[in-house]
Amino acid sequence: MTDPKQTQDRVVIFDTTLRDGEQSPGATMTHHEKLEIAALLDEMGVDIIEAGFPIASEGDFEAVSAIAKQAQNAVICGLARANFKDIDRCWEAVRHARRPRIHTFIGTSPLHRAIPNLDMDQMASRIHDTVTHARNLCDNVQWSPMDATRTEHDYLCRVVEIAIKAGATTINIPDTVGYTAPRESAALIAMLLERVPGADSVIFATHCHNDLGMATANSLAAVEAGARQIECTINGLGERAGNTALEEVVMALKVRNDIMPYRTGIDTTKIMNISRKVATVSGFPVQFNKAIVGKNAFAHESGIHQDGMLKNAETFEIMRPTDVGLSESSLPLGKHSGRAALRAKLRDLGYDMAENQLNDTFVRFKALADRKKEVFDDDLVALVQDSTTSA
Ligand code: KIV
Ligand code: ZN
Repeated sequence: MTDPKQTQDRVVIFDTTLRDGEQSPGATMTHHEKLEIAALLDEMGVDIIEAGFPIASEGDFEAVSAIAKQAQNAVICGLARANFKDIDRCWEAVRHARRPRIHTFIGTSPLHRAIPNLDMDQMASRIHDTVTHARNLCDNVQWSPMDATRTEHDYLCRVVEIAIKAGATTINIPDTVGYTAPRESAALIAMLLERVPGADSVIFATHCHNDLGMATANSLAAVEAGARQIECTINGLGERAGNTALEEVVMALKVRNDIMPYRTGIDTTKIMNISRKVATVSGFPVQFNKAIVGKNAFAHESGIHQDGMLKNAETFEIMRPTDVGLSESSLPLGKHSGRAALRAKLRDLGYDMAENQLNDTFVRFKALADRKKEVFDDDLVALVQDSTTSA
């Protein structure tokens, strides 16, 4: 790697919640909601916001234009297929941004080449013409060979070289169907950096889908091999099993900076807020055990864990809840909880009990917890009041 860009430790975060994320069936967002999400993304330090697919609908065009006008810091990007009409429409929408980007793509794998019925040479010349056209409009052009991970390596090298020569400034390598695995994801980026002339003059991006649950691992492996842009969405929203989750890659790079020495510009304390917002507006609730943003990501129920947490949070937490914008971890009380957590909770509720009263409450708490999934504050107050009156 000869280009300083490739050796730098800064990883660009490209968020596509409003484009690939919104393509999840049923996740459609209103114009106003998109503007709100874009403002939050901009505020949290996302480098590039893919705001939509301007030719897809009048609504998408309007949303991308409005986001382009509103953005303060982020580059605003729109998606376009490999034809002049799409690219012109995309430019019309993003040109209002302080820092616009056109993202144009075409499927390069054998299965995808068959759809427009182009042979390899015809497709190569389409790529040359469309990237050149985009670059004549905008000096920031991203090009993607869709289904790159199932494209023949020789052909992939050939078309990536054409796109670079035609003026693309970012080359995105999509794992469109979530098919790759970490070692292969890294090898693909390394292969392109080594074989494609001019590869050191552009940024390579990784765009992973989560069909086999490996999107985060694949993205990080690509970074280790030299990619410097990660494409991702809030909560991993996206088609089928979703895209790489922004919160996962960002927190992985922060928490394991000792072994992955790369940094992003994200203010991680804004993560919870935007996660909740995206869940609400998309109508896609976050699964309880989702990494980083799930309801249980900082919750500990078992007695051993709660006792450890009360003594030293690092015993069972690798990051602080405040790092992601939560005020504190939670120690929900259930049948696995122990005396230490019960005592701490009762103290919070204003009950400082003598040992024998605590013992009695603990026995009755366990009996209740066997019948109920979670024991809430009101349940505890009732238990204590009951033990006081029956004493
Ligand atoms: O998954 C994919 O291939 C895409 C492209 C449009 C970049 O989303
Ligand atoms: Zn995608």
